[in-house]
Amino acid sequence: MTSQNLHKFLTENLDTLREQGLYNEIDVVESPNGPMIKLNGKKLINLSSNNYLGLATDDCLKEVAITAIQDWGVGAGAVRTINGTLQVHTRLEEKLAEFKGTEAAISYQSGFNCNMAAISAVMDKNDAILSDELNHASIIDGCRLSKAKIIRVNHSDMDDLRQKAKEAKESGLYNKIMVITDGVFSMDGDIAKLPEIVDIAEEFDLITYVDDAHGSGVLGNGAGTVKHFGLQEKVDFQIGTLSKAIGVVGGYVAGKKELIDWLKVRSRPFLFSTAVTPADAVAATKAIEILMESKELNERLWENGDYLKKGLQDLGFDIGHSETPITPCIIGEEKATQQFSKRLFEEGVYAKSIVFPTVPKGTGRVRNMPTTAHTKEMLDQAIAVYEKVGKEIGII
Ligand SMILES: Cc1ncc(COP(=O)(O)O)c(C=O)c1O
Repeated sequence: MTSQNLHKFLTENLDTLREQGLYNEIDVVESPNGPMIKLNGKKLINLSSNNYLGLATDDCLKEVAITAIQDWGVGAGAVRTINGTLQVHTRLEEKLAEFKGTEAAISYQSGFNCNMAAISAVMDKNDAILSDELNHASIIDGCRLSKAKIIRVNHSDMDDLRQKAKEAKESGLYNKIMVITDGVFSMDGDIAKLPEIVDIAEEFDLITYVDDAHGSGVLGNGAGTVKHFGLQEKVDFQIGTLSKAIGVVGGYVAGKKELIDWLKVRSRPFLFSTAVTPADAVAATKAIEILMESKELNERLWENGDYLKKGLQDLGFDIGHSETPITPCIIGEEKATQQFSKRLFEEGVYAKSIVFPTVPKGTGRVRNMPTTAHTKEMLDQAIAVYEKVGKEIGII
């Protein structure tokens, strides 16, 4: 007999979530995740993906992935430290280091995994981590796993960061102190104040850790937020994902060779979990090559981002303080936000609502992620739908 206790826990909690309207029914997408997608047989303009540069469905990447399967098989076969590492993974890491302007890089199975791996390989219970309050869930979990003291810092508040860094340093309680931040914050599209963070880090001898999941491929002509500010020499950890702008799957840390050497012997997801498939590694390497060779994809992303932003702003929508193509439309009240997203869907636009607890109460929003692959016609059509639904619901 299976556990009655577990059954009780699951059914009670699932019922509560459903009653509160908080159970997330996951949509099934019946097409590739491109600028147009199919759901329930309906074609929609897709403004919900992280496929910033359209590379997830790129023909060239599909081709190299197919060839990689023929050359290397469908799986890596074993953990890299046990059975040797496939050349495709080391090539990916060399390319990542070149892309990020660092001495070396190490790849992981996902961006999430990377934060689990990297923070706890370096920080422990005798250390402290200054963490922006809006950091991604994987950063928060990675910090918790390390058992270091987590000191929450008000979002992008440099006075608060300085004060807390000073207190932590002067307390003498900690061996090491780290400051950790998203490069681009995914809910608002704002950019971390890296130059000031790096100054504070220098003043108080902090380790600097930037998770650039939403900045890579987007800022710094594609090389990311650290490059955007010209701070490659001053940031210890540059974290990234291969699943958003790069279009494939996986995560990585780029930094000094000694850091990467350490992660190869002390980060547990690297030591105890099989790497991404050869096709993933080869496709990601190719995607980075494409990005490094030409600015075209990156420039079109910004053009489309600016176009959509202007269109929505001119209609009177509150798009917050985004500095990147991520374009939130802040509606406020949770139910109204969900209703708005539902009406957009009915009118042919897929833009998901994001409400508490993902964002603070009363700041519900529909988040739009324009990509390089959207045409002007698609964006015009989306803006027209926003106008219709916004007027209908009384938001504009
Ligand atoms: C800042 C940040 N870090 C890490 C991740 C996780 O990346 P992945 O999807 O590769 O696990 C995300 C994804 O949403 C993210 O926004």
